[in-house]
Amino acid sequence: MILIIDFGSQYNQLIARRVREQHVYCQIEPPQISLAEMRALAPEGIILSGGPASIYEKGSPRVDPAIFDLGVPVLGICYGMHSMVNALGGKVKRAEKREYGFAGLRTRDATGIFHGIEEETKCWMSHGDMVERLPKGFRVTASTANTRVAATANPRKRFYGLQFHPEVVHTPKGKRMLNNFLFRICGGKKTWTMKSFIRESVRDIRSTVDDKKVILGLSGGVDSSVTALLLHRAIGNQLTCIFVDNGLLRQDEAPQVKRLFKKHFKVNVRFVNARRQFLEGLKGVVDPEKKRKIIGRTFIEAFEKEAGKFKEAAFLGQGTLYPDIIESRSAFGGPSAVIKSHHNVGGLPKKMKLKLIEPLKHLFKDEVRILGKELGLPEDLVWRQPFPGPGLAIRVISDVTQARLAILRKADVILLEEIRAKGLYRKLWQSFAVLLPLKSVGIMGDQRTYEHIVAIRAVTSTDAMTADWARLPHAFLGRISNRIINEVRGVNRVVYDISSKPPSTIEWE
Ligand code: XMP
Repeated sequence: MILIIDFGSQYNQLIARRVREQHVYCQIEPPQISLAEMRALAPEGIILSGGPASIYEKGSPRVDPAIFDLGVPVLGICYGMHSMVNALGGKVKRAEKREYGFAGLRTRDATGIFHGIEEETKCWMSHGDMVERLPKGFRVTASTANTRVAATANPRKRFYGLQFHPEVVHTPKGKRMLNNFLFRICGGKKTWTMKSFIRESVRDIRSTVDDKKVILGLSGGVDSSVTALLLHRAIGNQLTCIFVDNGLLRQDEAPQVKRLFKKHFKVNVRFVNARRQFLEGLKGVVDPEKKRKIIGRTFIEAFEKEAGKFKEAAFLGQGTLYPDIIESRSAFGGPSAVIKSHHNVGGLPKKMKLKLIEPLKHLFKDEVRILGKELGLPEDLVWRQPFPGPGLAIRVISDVTQARLAILRKADVILLEEIRAKGLYRKLWQSFAVLLPLKSVGIMGDQRTYEHIVAIRAVTSTDAMTADWARLPHAFLGRISNRIINEVRGVNRVVYDISSKPPSTIEWE
């Protein structure tokens, strides 16, 4: 395993992704990790990530310098390199010129990190500090026009430093450099596969749960579905899933979950029909944040009521993913933490004395999808677009009624049918219909109509933090509009949303 020390760089999850893509397991830990904890992890190599601080500032994050006596190879990236240089007796200072963006890199050592890489290549720089004096035993292994120490090495100790970011695509040979570190320098082996993950998780889950019972909230989304299947693989009928039908789901969602999990996978699933409670709670509510709160609270009530029937349950399963863990404990917050906070509908039923079991907590989203496939989850679920916890309630703008939900469901089915038929479903981050609280005049046959407006939202994105409206072909949009207006009674106008995030958001509410 490779240990990545998190100094708060926006790229640290990317480093972990790059390592795992090579089938080498890695874990991201905060700089405060103790030496004993580090030893217990028994890393084959350590990567010190970049970060926003300056090493000469008071209070800037440090690792225990004893890390350099473990006899393990270390790669410091940007701030990580500064922290290594500083800990080993070198000097870092503020650069006269900040360097940001592409830079030509001239390497002069083809043995370590730069093995197999031509002398002239490009790299991605983003720094305001630079190494002035190297510690004993280190030499310069690459430079750019502005930065003398763009890379450094102490090959005897197997310590390496890069001022630039090998983990981003803008450093074209970055992947090769990281691979050199993993395999040539650390002697890593490609042992991290989904098969090995399943084997080890099943063993861990069995020994943790023993003969006790586990309950899990199943939503039909990727994370909870994969969690259910993995737990089921490990403990079979000791698992009971609870599916709360909040009446805000898309067409046929509840029956699909029933068919797949109950009939096909033979998982215990309890279906709770809470549609009435949700709709009553939402009656007349217009404000989106109020809607979220009501939905969150009603969900917990419904879930707790059902879960309370399982007196013998000792564990609560959750589909927590690795980025949630990293972000929630990061000392530096990170922009993602703030923006997503309002999205976590519900939370833990606190009154229940249950221990948490989170078997996906070390996985990234794309790994969860691979795992789902490996566990036999159908392709269309593995690649399901995100669907928000509050469901259609935040896509029926203004107050939510049974009648409005019905109109929206019909429009949504048509849209998704067309998107799938055109082969666009997986290319789009999300695509959905929104029902506006407005009516407009139209003409159908010889009749004047006065009906609803449906907006179509389709975006591309990699992480939902930013998104761009999808440039869908006009003829295709025309076809969707025709079908919705012809087939959905109550709609006489369709508009296409051409706003990006930021400044807009993906959902309308
Ligand atoms: P926005 O609309 O903020 O959404 O650009 C970013 C991503 O989060 C989803 N989303 C939610 N997910 N509960 C959720 O579970 C929510 O309240 C919620 N609001 C937005 C949205 O669909 C997109 O993927």
